[in-house]
Amino acid sequence: MSLKTNRRDFLKTFGVATVCACTGMAGMNACSMIRGVSQTPVIPEGTYALEGNLLTFDLEMIDCLQETGGSGKLSLMHEGDEVKLLIIHHESGSFKAFSDRCTHAGRELNYQHGEEKIQCSSFGKATYGLNGRVKKGPAEGPLAIYPAVLKENQLIINIS
Ligand code: FES
Repeated sequence: MSLKTNRRDFLKTFGVATVCACTGMAGMNACSMIRGVSQTPVIPEGTYALEGNLLTFDLEMIDCLQETGGSGKLSLMHEGDEVKLLIIHHESGSFKAFSDRCTHAGRELNYQHGEEKIQCSSFGKATYGLNGRVKKGPAEGPLAIYPAVLKENQLIINIS
C-alpha cells in the first residue's frame, strides 16, 4: 500500500471519527450538521396570494405543478411564523400540501412520484408516505398535511 493511499485512508477515518465524536458530544445528529437542500422547484412569487389562512395559487402560472407528478415548494411568513410548504400534483386534478420540514431535524423534502413517497433531502433520508406517516426513519413523527382544494384552475390551501 502506498504512502498516498495510507494518508487518504487516515484522513477518511479521521474525518468520520471527528464527525461521530462531535455529534456524540453535542448530542446532535448528522442531519443537524449536514445540510440537505431539496431539488424541488420554488413556486414563483406573484403566482399566489395569501388572504387570512387561505393561500390561493393560479395554477396556469406555475410550471412545476402543471403535470401529474410535479411538485413545488414555497416559504412565507404567516402570523409571525415561517410556513414551508411542499405541494405535489399527485394525480390528475388532485393536489396535496405538506409541511416542507422533515420531522427529524427540519430539512427540506422531495416528492418521488414514481415511488409514491416523500423523502428528506438530508443525510438521514427519512421517508414518508402520502398520508404523511413515516415509512422509514430516523424521523418519528408524521408530516403536517394542509387541506388543499382545487377550484377551476385555482388551488386553495388552508395553512391555519
Ligand atoms: S432531517 Fe434527518 S432525516 Fe430528515
